[in-house]
Amino acid sequence: MPFPIKEVRATYPALSDGYAYLDGAAGTQTPRPVIDAIATAYRTGIGNVGGAFPASHRSDAIVAACRAAVADLVGGHPDGVILGPNMTTLTYRLSRALAGPGDEVVLSRLDHDANVRPWTQTGATVRWAEVDPVTGELPVEQYAELINERTRVVAVTAASNILGTRPDVPAIAELAHRAGALMYVDGVHATPHGPVDMRALGADFYATSAYKWSGPHIGAVVADPALLETVRPDKLASSPDTVPHRFETGTLPFADLDGVTAAVDHLAAMVPGTGNRRERLLTSMAAAEEHELALFAALIEGLETMPHVTVYGKPARRTATAYFNVAGHAPRQVAEHLARLRVNVWSGHSYAWELTAALGVRDTGGAVRAGLVHYNDRSDVDRLLEGVAGLV
Ligand SMILES: Cc1ncc(COP(=O)(O)O)c(C=O)c1O
Repeated sequence: MPFPIKEVRATYPALSDGYAYLDGAAGTQTPRPVIDAIATAYRTGIGNVGGAFPASHRSDAIVAACRAAVADLVGGHPDGVILGPNMTTLTYRLSRALAGPGDEVVLSRLDHDANVRPWTQTGATVRWAEVDPVTGELPVEQYAELINERTRVVAVTAASNILGTRPDVPAIAELAHRAGALMYVDGVHATPHGPVDMRALGADFYATSAYKWSGPHIGAVVADPALLETVRPDKLASSPDTVPHRFETGTLPFADLDGVTAAVDHLAAMVPGTGNRRERLLTSMAAAEEHELALFAALIEGLETMPHVTVYGKPARRTATAYFNVAGHAPRQVAEHLARLRVNVWSGHSYAWELTAALGVRDTGGAVRAGLVHYNDRSDVDRLLEGVAGLV
């Protein structure tokens, strides 16, 4: 069955403004059910959690539903879902509890800086996995040399936020686990682009951010609750010491959490499916991935055949994310030119700090990123290609 792109697009009020939203990797637009869920939560009355009255009970239920929804999305356990403001903040919090001086951590230059700097700043010894700057691949073989019995954590992305590269995370996880190390997988870019099974990836920790998959600005890290029982983060003396609560500092944004649940339900319902929500998510996200990759084939071919365009990387397995430069134009100028044509793209290093250095573009303004998500259509691709062609 073809992906019902018209129906999906109609769910997003913002898409009617005439812009081609190719900036999804920096944050997606929001569908109506998410907007409604957040507004309804505020309208209905919510209290802080753990109180004696109905408004508080509503917040208790919202938090529980949100944990269940995120667990369904990534294939985890609801009691292992840690909620917070964003992936970066949660990763800083967890990195300090998981590694420190005397430990070794293995990081990759493919990663967004949010899965790099929190680890380098723990004081642990860092070992680097390098990227092939031509293909944009992260060769697995090097991990056998990098991981040893002192390795505490291997932090790696499930997909690059600029090149789209999907490294072989299960193979890296096997090497990590054989040495007794933990796998901290950054799923922020990968999650919106296809079905996720954190156990199949070998992720002990899987980080994701709802604002990349049609939800509000909320981050989550998912782990086995039994593993979390062994980890002791900094926390207040007065706050709950239970799992996952002891990883959550301060008060959660309850209405937004209701929006996260609505976003997961929306993703699960993009195509007709049967079974429980997890099963429907797998079907729906597989259909979305197929839709994105079919459009992306046209996008990348169009860019690669333009003589004045340099496209970075050619990974074998990737998300629908392109990173490119246009001869004679700074990346920001390209983005401004496209913005005048009502095409939204990102420009710069996009926080891929190590990777843009490896590609040799960090000090020259980075490059332009155009990415597809489930709500993009052929006209978005055509408008991008026409706009870039016009820069000869
Ligand atoms: C791959 C990747 N990791 C981590 C992050 C940081 O996520 P957050 O904004 O939730 O801290 C981003 C954000 O762009 C990202 O693309």
